[in-house]
Amino acid sequence: MEAKDFSVLPRHVAVIMDGNGRWAKKRGLPRTAGHIEGAKTFRKIGEYAGDLGIRHITFYAFSTENWSRPENEVAAIMRLFNEYLEEARERLEESIQKGIRLRFLGDRSRIDPDLLELMDFMEAATAEGKKVNLNIAINYGGQQELLQAVQSIAEDAASGRISAADVDAAMIENRLYTAGQPPVDLMIRPSGEQRLSNFLLWQSAYAEFWYSDVLWPDFTEQDFDEALKAYEKRNRRFGGV
Ligand code: FPP
Repeated sequence: MEAKDFSVLPRHVAVIMDGNGRWAKKRGLPRTAGHIEGAKTFRKIGEYAGDLGIRHITFYAFSTENWSRPENEVAAIMRLFNEYLEEARERLEESIQKGIRLRFLGDRSRIDPDLLELMDFMEAATAEGKKVNLNIAINYGGQQELLQAVQSIAEDAASGRISAADVDAAMIENRLYTAGQPPVDLMIRPSGEQRLSNFLLWQSAYAEFWYSDVLWPDFTEQDFDEALKAYEKRNRRFGGV
């Protein structure tokens, strides 16, 4: 399917990759097996979204709350993320040709230094990509993101660089991890849950939500199409009439 099959495409799609654990449990496998499959689905849907012409797509890979999971599960998710980045580095020329720009949203202070180095390298190496902005949220929390924006504004105010009256929505947006990117148009959450789970709180103010019972490892291009078709049919009013 190509972009022309949709009369309107969301500019920014966000995906909560939920249901990996249940997928594994159903098969009597360890939870980490669900994340391995989930990482494959991430690659598949990320590539598909780019082929369709979606300009911005954000995947929720690891939240600020996910550190409370068993150590081996946290390590497995970080390892999968690292594997993906190493593979992306090997295929760098291809990504550059496709105009892909990789970005990471979240608090980097707790990220392993080697992984962080790879993240920084990939962000810099793809910085000129203009077609697809692929965001991966890692150690991300929406409240934490807003908190650090408020702190940085407060610091500027305390030092006299700005006054309270200067604070506006644009100033907040410019201090979010998504600075310069459009707000979320479509939020996709598979696996039956209907929660935002601290994901892109500010950016999703007017997002359309699409839920599905499919577990993330089973999520297909057809499911993504369904979400886009549902989005196409919705009448967005942004608070107007
Ligand atoms: C939520 O499912 C999923 C996660 C917390 C991890 C998502 C990570 C990946 C898909 C792999 C690594 C990422 C990249 C970018 C390669 P869950 O475990 O909460 O599922 P459950 O609700 O069924 O237990």
